Amino acid sequence: MSKLDLRLWALQAAGHIVPDKSLLKTPKQIAAIKKSAALNTAVLDHVAAHIRQGMCTAEIDQLVYNFTTKHGGIPAPLNYDGFPKSVCTSINNVICHGIPSEEDILKEGDIINVDVSTILHGYFSDASRMFTIGEISPRAEKLVRVTAECVERGLRAAKPWGHLGDIAHAINTHARRNGYHVVEEIGGHGIGLEFHEEPFVSYVTPKGSEMVLVPGMMFTIEPMINEGGPEYFIDDENGWTVYTMDGGLSAQIEYMVLVTDKGVKVLSK
Ligand code: MF3
Ligand code: CO
Repeated sequence: MSKLDLRLWALQAAGHIVPDKSLLKTPKQIAAIKKSAALNTAVLDHVAAHIRQGMCTAEIDQLVYNFTTKHGGIPAPLNYDGFPKSVCTSINNVICHGIPSEEDILKEGDIINVDVSTILHGYFSDASRMFTIGEISPRAEKLVRVTAECVERGLRAAKPWGHLGDIAHAINTHARRNGYHVVEEIGGHGIGLEFHEEPFVSYVTPKGSEMVLVPGMMFTIEPMINEGGPEYFIDDENGWTVYTMDGGLSAQIEYMVLVTDKGVKVLSK
């Protein structure tokens, strides 16, 4: 038994949830996934440079498709489980999985999450940002700011040999302190060799609970923060788009991270 095997075995014997060894990326895989993540970040930078009031979300989809394919990548959402576009664009009361459309035109005061996921040479990456259009209300400004703070606090709480629940606790505490709710049933995920791998990453679980963070693991920190209640419904026409039940605003920011011996490193944001 290697030192690592022994440590994992002891943790499991003590009742902790430990990752299957298949979730621990090898140095070669890490190097390849980092290249995918760098392209993913570049796509987000490209969107950031071009997003503007009056643009429709189908144009964002075109920007993402053209830039990604020009650089040798494939947008991971395209045809994923039947998703029809290359990126998710979620405006105001849309929590996630908004489908780009010619009908959705960005107007002053909107807040929008653009969620970009990339396949490069078979390796997957995923991150999302919030963008604000023109002048936004103080209410929207606060939600976007607190969501960014939540993700940063989650990242700081993430430590090798700590637990996923430590991240959730930091995020949920900060959200609740500001009067917000974290969506419970939709969360983050492992990533790298596939779009969505184990583990499911909740942002409402207690400190010290859930999977141990073992060096080599990769996953996303992507809480969805609602200004109102955490309840949602899914568009029954397209089967994808998730809306807040009460019509309140929702924001989300996603970092893709790697656990190393020394800390938790952001690969794409
Ligand atoms: N990027 C989303 C996530 O963080 C994935 C959405 S699936 C899609 O999990 F098909 F809608 F792209
Ligand atoms: Co994701």
